[in-house]
Amino acid sequence: MGGGVSFPVVPLSRDRVVLVTGGNTGLGYEAAKHIAMMGASVVIACRSQTRATQAIQRMNEEFRASKEAGTLPEGISQTGSLAVDFMELDLASLKSTMAFIEAFKASGRKLHVLLCNAGVAMLPRGFTEDGHETMFQVNYLGHFLIIAHLVPTMKTSGSDCRIIFTSSQAHMYSEREFRESKVKAEDPAVYGRMLNYGTSKLFQIHHMFCLSRRLKGTDISVTCLHPGIVRTEVTRSFTDSTALAAMFGTFRMLGFTKTPLQGATTLIDAAVNTVWRGVSDVYLMDCKPSSTHSCARNQEYQEKVWKYSLECLKNYLPEDVVDSLEGRS
Ligand SMILES: NC(=O)c1ccc[n+]([C@@H]2O[C@H](COP(=O)([O-])OP(=O)(O)OC[C@H]3O[C@@H](n4cnc5c(N)ncnc54)[C@H](OP(=O)(O)O)[C@@H]3O)[C@@H](O)[C@H]2O)c1
Repeated sequence: MGGGVSFPVVPLSRDRVVLVTGGNTGLGYEAAKHIAMMGASVVIACRSQTRATQAIQRMNEEFRASKEAGTLPEGISQTGSLAVDFMELDLASLKSTMAFIEAFKASGRKLHVLLCNAGVAMLPRGFTEDGHETMFQVNYLGHFLIIAHLVPTMKTSGSDCRIIFTSSQAHMYSEREFRESKVKAEDPAVYGRMLNYGTSKLFQIHHMFCLSRRLKGTDISVTCLHPGIVRTEVTRSFTDSTALAAMFGTFRMLGFTKTPLQGATTLIDAAVNTVWRGVSDVYLMDCKPSSTHSCARNQEYQEKVWKYSLECLKNYLPEDVVDSLEGRS
C-alpha cells in the first residue's frame, strides 16, 4: 500500500477512543474507517452534519461489502458494526470550537488518540470570524484550543495516548522565523498562498515540540506526519489558481500522487502501531521518521509561536487550563 508502505492491523478495544478532525472525507475518512474497523470507538469532528452522516453511512457500507466479499484484512473482526459518531466542529470559529470542546467533555468520553487532521490548503488571503488568517486558525490555532482543553481528559484516560498532527512537507516553504505581521496576513502584497499554508503546517511541528516538552512524564506522545501528495478534496480550494492547479496536475501526471488510503497509511500507522507507543518528536513520512526543515527544530521559534498562540486564545483559556497545559498543576 502506498508504494509498499502499510500499517499493521491492531485489534483495538471499543473503550479506546479516537478523535479525528475532518473525518468526513480524504485522509481523515480513511483513517477513521480503518481505525474503527480495528475495533476502536471513533468520533469524527466535522463542520457539516450532512457530510459527516453520509460519511459514516459510507464507512459502514464499505465495511459490510468487504465482509461479504471476504476481503477484510486478517485480524479485523467480522462481527458487529463500526462505532463511529459525529460531533460538530467548525475550526474557523473559536466559538464553535469551544462548543465542540464542551460537548466532548460533557459526553464523558475518554480520549486516547487525537488526530489533528482537518485542514484547508493554499487559500487566497481571507479571515475567520475571529479575525485570524483562515489557514492559521483552521489548520493550527483551532487544534491548539482543542488540545489545551482536552489534554486533562487524555491524562486521565489510561495508557498510550497519542496526539498526531497531519502536517506537510509544505512547511519547507514557510516563513522561517515567526513574524506576527506575516501570520496576521496584514499586508496583501506579501501574503502567499503556499507561504501561509506552509507556515500553518510549520506551526504544527512547532506545536509538537512544545507540547512534548510539557507532556514529559505523562503517557501522552506527540507526533507529526506528512501523508504525501494525495488526491483528496484538498485541491478544491486552489482550482481558481492556474499555477496551483497546474502544479498538482503535473504531480499527478508524473505519478507522484497517492490515493486517499495510501496517504492515510501513515496516519493510521501513527495512531495504532505499537512501535510508536511513547514516541514523541518524530515527523513521519511513509511510516518512517523523516527530517524537518531546521527552522522547525528551532526552540526559540517554537516557543515564540506557543506564546503568541496563548495570546490569541486568551479569552478561551482560563488560568487553570493554562496551568495544566504548562505542567504547573
Ligand atoms: N492531500 C494532500 O496532498 C495533503 C498533503 C499534505 C498534508 N495534507 C493535510 O492533510 C489534512 C487532510 O487533508 P485532505 O487531503 O484529506 O483534504 P480534504 O479531503 O479536503 O479533507 C479536509 C478535511 O478537513 C475538513 N475541514 C476543512 N475546514 C474545516 C473547518 N473549518 N472546520 C472543520 N473541518 C474542516 C474538511 O471538511 P469539509 O468536507 O466539510 O470541507 C475535510 O473533512 C489537511 O490538514 C491537509 O493540510 C494533505
